[in-house]
Amino acid sequence: MTDYQKAINERCSRRAFVLEPLENAASLRERMELYNLESGLRIRLVENDRDVMKGISASYGMFSGVRHFFALAGKQSEPRLNEKAGYWGERLVLDATMLGLGTCWVGGTYHKDLCEKKIGLAPDEKLVAIILVGKVPHQKTIKEHLIRSVARRGTKPLDELYTAAETPENFLNGMRAVQKAPSAINKQPVHFQYKNRTVTAEVPDRSGHQGIDLGIALLHFEVGSRAENRFGEIDGHYMLQL
Ligand SMILES: Cc1cc2nc3c(=O)[nH]c(=O)nc-3n(C[C@H](O)[C@H](O)[C@H](O)COP(=O)(O)O)c2cc1C
Repeated sequence: MTDYQKAINERCSRRAFVLEPLENAASLRERMELYNLESGLRIRLVENDRDVMKGISASYGMFSGVRHFFALAGKQSEPRLNEKAGYWGERLVLDATMLGLGTCWVGGTYHKDLCEKKIGLAPDEKLVAIILVGKVPHQKTIKEHLIRSVARRGTKPLDELYTAAETPENFLNGMRAVQKAPSAINKQPVHFQYKNRTVTAEVPDRSGHQGIDLGIALLHFEVGSRAENRFGEIDGHYMLQL
């Protein structure tokens, strides 16, 4: 988990990739298969694809060199599909970061139909999002700096992310890791509460990207706080005893 902390500190979304085969694909695939077993998700790794972001990357002018991505899919009947995709997808993001690769979550701006075809999505499955992955230049491009300065402008101060009467250090460390988490249009919608050593986390609406953001934030909190347990869902609330 401490390596994950380092990855959390280093990670940021990257949008300009180098046109090269995916290094460390075998190791990423191994992690992905482990996570699929543990979570029941059906994440796939697609390599050397030129179509899923085609046109979109050009018209938005945001992405370049995209060739590889994780497609985060699972059973439609899974009630916590978005949160699970967020939690386990972000693990892959941190694994890739530790391998020196760049990543970017993409929730909507890709050819979803094409992607579903490419991965052979079954009728009982749903595709939640993709995560771009690949080699990136060590230094961010000027365009990347610009996009990040706009995207990150609204980052919330730490104390807007939680409600708590007391704030022990392990809770605050968890929240610092949450503050660094990626979220769709950097909205940081997840609100945490701390009371009597119990942490809860919630978003206004789990049905869309906020559900993914919630799963990502749960993982970041677990890593940052060095929690011994994982969040569990009790009476519809994600809870963790610190
Ligand atoms: C669920 C989700 C969907 C996202 N979709 C997009 C997207 O479509 N395009 C994009 O450029 N970035 C996307 N992002 C990346 C966010 O913009 C980025 O995480 C946020 O601005 C914070 O910046 P950082 O990741 O560099 O810390 C998405 C992130 C998440 C978690």
